[in-house]
Amino acid sequence: MSEGSRIPGFYKLSLAARREVVANRVGLEQDELGLALEQGGLDAATADKVVENVLGIYALPFGIALNVRVNDVDRLVPMVVEEPSVIAAASNAARMVRQGGGFRAEVVESLMIGQVQVTGVTDPAGARARLEAAAPRLLELATKSVPNLIARGGGPRAVEVRDLGEGCIVLHVLVDCRDAMGANLVNTIAEAIGPLTAELAQGKLGLRILSNLCDRRRARVTCRVHARDLVSTPRSQSGAGGSWPPPSAAATSELEGGDVIDAIVSASRFAELDPYRAATHNKGIMNGIDAVVLATGNDFRAVEAGAHAYAARTGRYQPLAVWHREGEELVGELELPLSLGIVGGTLRVHPTARLALKLLGVNTADELAMVAASAGLASNLSALRALATEGIQRGHMSLHARSVAIAAGALGEEVELVAARIAEAGLITVEAAARVLNEVRDAT
Ligand code: MEV
Repeated sequence: MSEGSRIPGFYKLSLAARREVVANRVGLEQDELGLALEQGGLDAATADKVVENVLGIYALPFGIALNVRVNDVDRLVPMVVEEPSVIAAASNAARMVRQGGGFRAEVVESLMIGQVQVTGVTDPAGARARLEAAAPRLLELATKSVPNLIARGGGPRAVEVRDLGEGCIVLHVLVDCRDAMGANLVNTIAEAIGPLTAELAQGKLGLRILSNLCDRRRARVTCRVHARDLVSTPRSQSGAGGSWPPPSAAATSELEGGDVIDAIVSASRFAELDPYRAATHNKGIMNGIDAVVLATGNDFRAVEAGAHAYAARTGRYQPLAVWHREGEELVGELELPLSLGIVGGTLRVHPTARLALKLLGVNTADELAMVAASAGLASNLSALRALATEGIQRGHMSLHARSVAIAAGALGEEVELVAARIAEAGLITVEAAARVLNEVRDAT
């Protein structure tokens, strides 16, 4: 098994050294890495061709989560996110999980859904029968509309009919989009079969569009963490420099691992019992998933819409991940719709998104979905572990202290020094950082 995603002390390296280490690990030229990351990888002239009324570029930090192992393969996981702690938290949880063998993940079905709406249907039962009988014709028509997808081994696989009442019939066409996210493909198919669908249903053609509740393309991931690994993950080994909470924090060392398991299981149950908590629990999961989705140039609005609709599928908003105890192990399970692509879309124009895929080393969209879901489960574990023990503020604020130190003018190694001192003193303000910075400079 590769040790490729373990880089102890990574956070202590300079930015240039981090790029060198990563370029060497994945066999890339440093120049290629640097070019894709400078200025966020996109120039204003290119951006002007991507969307409308462009004034410029908006950049976000691009980092990597370490320690991630999914189905026995190590992955350096690119994450784009503005919130301090998210990358460190995912890395620290991934370190605990890899001690129990890493994440086990799969993608269920991998089919996108296109919807064709027909209204004013006076005989819904007859419409359903005619549409079901015409499935081969509808699929043939759908197939003809996406020759490139067929050439890549994908294509429409089945149709299903739903009667929504009020004379509204909806035809679902299920499409294997291979390595594309699939929105354009599915919309093309839905438009191609729309007229025949309306004719067969004997109603008026309505909307033809994909559904973002792609519950036939779900990522499922599980992990196991032994009690002892929940209370000992030295910061230097996590390689990420921080977490919710700092891994050697007093609060977890005072607790037995078994108590931490029980506290996490209780936090998970809280989310099952209360939609107010479930929303925040799921936000913590999406911290990890969205960051990977963004880094790889995918549509985070689509992913968010699908995730929350799925969370509410029973009529009650539920946590996407739940945790339970098995003996001395904590077991987590996450399942959600995830439509991601590794071809087309933003990837055509965005070198940083292409770089992210190279760092990940994924060969299929399904592999990307499994890694993104693992980052989500890792983020959830880290958040719950902190919340269920000492609370998140301590770890969060110690990382926030770094931004404050930079805002006060700290450079290079001064950043960590100043951040550590203001965090320790519990005075995380730019004024305090400026004072400490002066002291640090006077002493050297
Ligand atoms: C903060 O970005 C995410 C958390 O609120 C998630 C959670 O409460 O589980 C810490």
